[in-house]
Amino acid sequence: MTQDEMKKEAGWAALKYVIKGGIIGVGTGSTVNHFIDALGSVKDEIKGAVSSSKASTEKLEALGIQVFDCNDVEKLDVYIDGADEINPTRDMIKGGGAALTREKIVAAISDTFVCIVDGTKTVDVLGKFPLPIEVIPMAREQVSRELKKLGGDPVYREGVLTDNGNIILDVHNMQITDPKALESTLNNIPGVVTNGLFAHRGADIVIIGTPEGTQFIE
Ligand code: 5RP
Repeated sequence: MTQDEMKKEAGWAALKYVIKGGIIGVGTGSTVNHFIDALGSVKDEIKGAVSSSKASTEKLEALGIQVFDCNDVEKLDVYIDGADEINPTRDMIKGGGAALTREKIVAAISDTFVCIVDGTKTVDVLGKFPLPIEVIPMAREQVSRELKKLGGDPVYREGVLTDNGNIILDVHNMQITDPKALESTLNNIPGVVTNGLFAHRGADIVIIGTPEGTQFIE
């Protein structure tokens, strides 16, 4: 089974958590793209979606799913999104697709975060995947210096601008022993918009696509 087949398995399995008549929070990435395809098959049974990126919005609208502005929706029952890594306590690294800030915002208004991943994304300790950080462009070098003081090796993601017009630093070799504490520390660096640690608001439910079948951790 390929990695993409595992992603598809997880993406389609997430339909289980789609509430009829509801507005669904939709993340970003290749696993979520499978979920959006699945959502298209029940589009007449939902009211619409709140999207975490321009890319997901385009895909949702192409399937005829109405996309609501996040400012017009106070609360969502469920948010469905992928991750780059997830640990046993359901803390995640996200942002491989540079959509972390909007993902964190939509996750924040959602009662339940359903994380959809393929079997390669589960880890005991976060940090092998470089931690993405969205940074205001003028703060790139200053934030890089601060990240080095924290033991990380930041690498500027060349040629990438986020949907919010900012840049991404991917931080290698970061020791993530306390994800919540590090998430807060990174957010306190002036110029950091968001970091890719989702620990204060981790996942509630995890769906893992594997060659042996779909696992649901509820
Ligand atoms: C985008 C994300 C994605 O959820 C994460 O990168 C996983 O992507 P994929 O499903 O393509 O492996 O955080 O910012």
